[in-house]
Amino acid sequence: MDTKKKPLFIAFSSQKGGVGKSTFTTLVASTMHYRLGYNVAVLDADFPQHSLMKMKARDLAMVMENEALKKMAYKQFTTINKKAYPIIQHRADNVLNEAQEFVANSAIPVDVVFFDLPGTVNTPGILKALAGMHHIFTPITADRVVMESTLIFTQLLQDVIMKKGETSIKTINLFWNQVDGRESTPLYDVYNQLIAQLGLSLMQSQVKNSTRFRKESEADSKTVFRSTVMPPDERLMKACQLDLFINEFLKIIQL
Ligand SMILES: Nc1ncnc2c1ncn2[C@@H]1O[C@H](COP(=O)(O)OP(=O)(O)OP(=O)(O)O)[C@@H](O)[C@H]1O
Ligand SMILES: [Mg+2]
Repeated sequence: MDTKKKPLFIAFSSQKGGVGKSTFTTLVASTMHYRLGYNVAVLDADFPQHSLMKMKARDLAMVMENEALKKMAYKQFTTINKKAYPIIQHRADNVLNEAQEFVANSAIPVDVVFFDLPGTVNTPGILKALAGMHHIFTPITADRVVMESTLIFTQLLQDVIMKKGETSIKTINLFWNQVDGRESTPLYDVYNQLIAQLGLSLMQSQVKNSTRFRKESEADSKTVFRSTVMPPDERLMKACQLDLFINEFLKIIQL
């Protein structure tokens, strides 16, 4: 009997670039792998940027150059006794096969595979890749262009692909990212109503806009936020409500 549990396939996905796909892939993957004890793999299919592959090299170098982080990393890796999660580079075309092959050949059982997919529907294989996800999480920002493209595309995914049945998709979840405390709430209210009217699911937690996201850790910093080799610092997570987001995320995927 095959007792090996099948891993979940999850994508942070959006039609619009620059909304946080790669960032959330990293933050959530690192939290699950380095702090919560799950085994994670990442498929970096955002060809030709492959930003996650490049990030890992940078993150490793950064940790090695910083004494405090180096100590933290050493402690982490000896305590959890496992390696950094793999980041596999592949074209979006056929990325599902690549993931399945990786999982089948992995010595350790993989719990979740995250896919960083390209943003445009014009990419060959993108719809097939999305249809092969179990859960899709889509960051939205209170911007007309982002909202229009996201709502149209999410509705298409839900009403055409999910209803046709030839898909693994269990949930598609929109969530507010880069929420600025000073922005007027009526704007959010209008969009929230529209999302509900379209029958789309919106997560309760909202991730705040924070300069943390745009800052690389510096040579003398003692904390890490977005890193592919360490989990985000818990205080920094709280400050932008990423902790609440991850709790809700874990409830949705029901691992
Ligand atoms: N909550 C936030 N507050 C502030 N900045 C954020 C937040 N979330 C994401 N960002 C920033 O937005 C920028 C775009 O994020 P990211 O690269 O993850 O987006 P992407 O969707 O992967 O983009 P691309 O389409 O280029 O792949 C990054 O500089 C990131 O740090
Ligand atoms: Mg990206």
